[in-house]
Amino acid sequence: MTEQSPALDNLLTENRTFPPTDEFAAQANAKADWYDKADADREAFWAEQAERLHWDTKWSQVLDWSGAPFAKWFVGGKLNVAYNCVDRHVESGHGEQVAIHWVGEPGDTRDITYAQLKDEVSKAANALASLGVTSGDRVAIQLPMIPEAIVAMLACARLGAMHSVVFGGFSPAALRSRVDDAEAKVVITSDGQYRRGKAAPMKTNVDEALDGAASVEKVIVVRRTGEEVPMGERDVWWHEFVDGQSTEHTPEAFDSEHPLFILYTSGTTGKPKGILHTSGGYLTQVAYTHHVVFDHKPGEDVYWCTADIGWVTGHSYIVYGPLANRATQVVYEGTPNTPHEGRHWEIIQNHKVSIYYTAPTLIRTFMKWGEDIPAKYDLSSLRVLGSVGEPINPEAWMWYREHIGAGKAPVVDTWWQTETGSIMISPLPGVTSTKPGSAQRPLPGISAKVVDDTATEVGKGGGGYLVLDKPWPSMLRGIWGDDERFRETYWSRFADQGFYFAGDGAKYDNDGDIWLLGRVDDVMNVSGHRISTTEVESALVSHPTVAEAAVVGASDPTTGQGIVAFVILRGAAAEGGDEAVQELRNHVAKEIGPIAKPRQIMVVPELPKTRSGKIMRRLLRDVAENRQIGDVTTLADSSVMELISSGLKSGK
Ligand code: WT7
Repeated sequence: MTEQSPALDNLLTENRTFPPTDEFAAQANAKADWYDKADADREAFWAEQAERLHWDTKWSQVLDWSGAPFAKWFVGGKLNVAYNCVDRHVESGHGEQVAIHWVGEPGDTRDITYAQLKDEVSKAANALASLGVTSGDRVAIQLPMIPEAIVAMLACARLGAMHSVVFGGFSPAALRSRVDDAEAKVVITSDGQYRRGKAAPMKTNVDEALDGAASVEKVIVVRRTGEEVPMGERDVWWHEFVDGQSTEHTPEAFDSEHPLFILYTSGTTGKPKGILHTSGGYLTQVAYTHHVVFDHKPGEDVYWCTADIGWVTGHSYIVYGPLANRATQVVYEGTPNTPHEGRHWEIIQNHKVSIYYTAPTLIRTFMKWGEDIPAKYDLSSLRVLGSVGEPINPEAWMWYREHIGAGKAPVVDTWWQTETGSIMISPLPGVTSTKPGSAQRPLPGISAKVVDDTATEVGKGGGGYLVLDKPWPSMLRGIWGDDERFRETYWSRFADQGFYFAGDGAKYDNDGDIWLLGRVDDVMNVSGHRISTTEVESALVSHPTVAEAAVVGASDPTTGQGIVAFVILRGAAAEGGDEAVQELRNHVAKEIGPIAKPRQIMVVPELPKTRSGKIMRRLLRDVAENRQIGDVTTLADSSVMELISSGLKSGK
């Protein structure tokens, strides 16, 4: 463990804890004895959780780990994921329950019941089927946060086709590489999307992305902003093509290991990884975790997860977990300060939201905007607060509890990843005495450890790497089209022990609670979004003025980390000053998406490299975070850092 922020060293002294009230504990979904019960017989525990679902054919074996690291869960079982998320709730008499209270950014709203959702999903499934989309095909979806996004995902699931959702903020190039990698047959998008009160184009970006994309046969376009868009030969409007379809569609049962979706996430190289998830185990764990971690009560709670469906949080905790559990949920299209900074609190007040799940970066933004804003709204319906995406600092955690949760709603800090599919480490409301800043303990049924370089578990107060030492139902089943990269990325570091290496540093405190300390690889976490340093570096060097680039994640008070780039410019370009730097920032936004735009770009004459040519990001991070520069003895040329610092001071 070398590259940790020193600020995290004081974590061991956190001694505030908040035990559950008797009242909460008495009604909690989670039970304290589940930890022991699951430890005593892990497979029996998961088999019990799988009973939350409807299986057309029951499994014959809970776990087959003989092909490790490729797991098979609920072997021989058959189910339809969309049937589990929609139809069965209608069949059990809850068709009139609202599934989605949708709130559009400009203020338009739609309430969709489970019966209506069933009709919409069936129509979309029939539409896709009429295009020849069938089991195992890939459908790419780039849509804003509108109901059709959820409908499209469920329609794919219903047909056994895999969706690959691409975040609406990703560039045409990023969309194209994902479409090509998965060889998507159909792309679903919209004319435009609302962002901060303005309509921004979407379809024209998609057209740019798909120019010459050989696999794509049809593009389905949802009308959202109403702006004029060119419709080509392979384009069809959703409202013309889907709305008139039959609402009758019989779901077919698929194997428990049938692929459900691919979701791309950044790795340590420039090429994003297509994380593959399958059906039975995934749905079991998202349903179980949504039930216990959020204490969700169907028909009573109003749940709201503020993520975008372009990320795994949206997949697992807007679409699959909540719908499998018959949640009534808010889905909000827009940004948190449109048209005003109290938008979230207004929505919570209007819909009496009881469970709210968001990200630390947003909590810190709310803190910055001031506690007087939430104070103007009635937030008394809130009873559970969740956090995800990056470590939550104790100050933000306390603010969340006090100013949003009225000092009594339990805060659950949930650690997990695109790869884990569902929450892995989190307190259980009603059971755990929560502690600001710590995700605390693996859930019942999950095993995680903090180990040192030799794979030995560290003791209380010790730090090291977070590993998952036992398979779990919603674990990734591979990287799309690249088994070797799957083994190499996650399973090679602790191959002898068979541990999954998460890429995160972690620590046990003196109570044995786990604190997550951030990534230990070349992956940055900016506002809870994973971006690889190499991806941004490749985007930079693709610009004609850039000779070399090195990127680091520097700690940032709001976004967790900010992207700081060091570039060597070619010849005359070096004189370009601020304008050249602005152009580079925009270039990265165009290549990857606005989320990858560097916070800062420093033009330097040299980059610090080891004798083997590896860039020493540690030293650049010292510069980016205004720290004393660390040990330079392993540099090939130890004067480089002086050159960099003096160049920056003189403003070159
Ligand atoms: C990485 C996974 C899980 C959905 C959102 C991000 C970091 C996530 C926490 C947390 C500390 C966290 C980790 C992890 N992370 N949640 N509660 N505390 N760190 O999914 O894009 O796959 O990123 O996010 O570094 O490895 P993702």
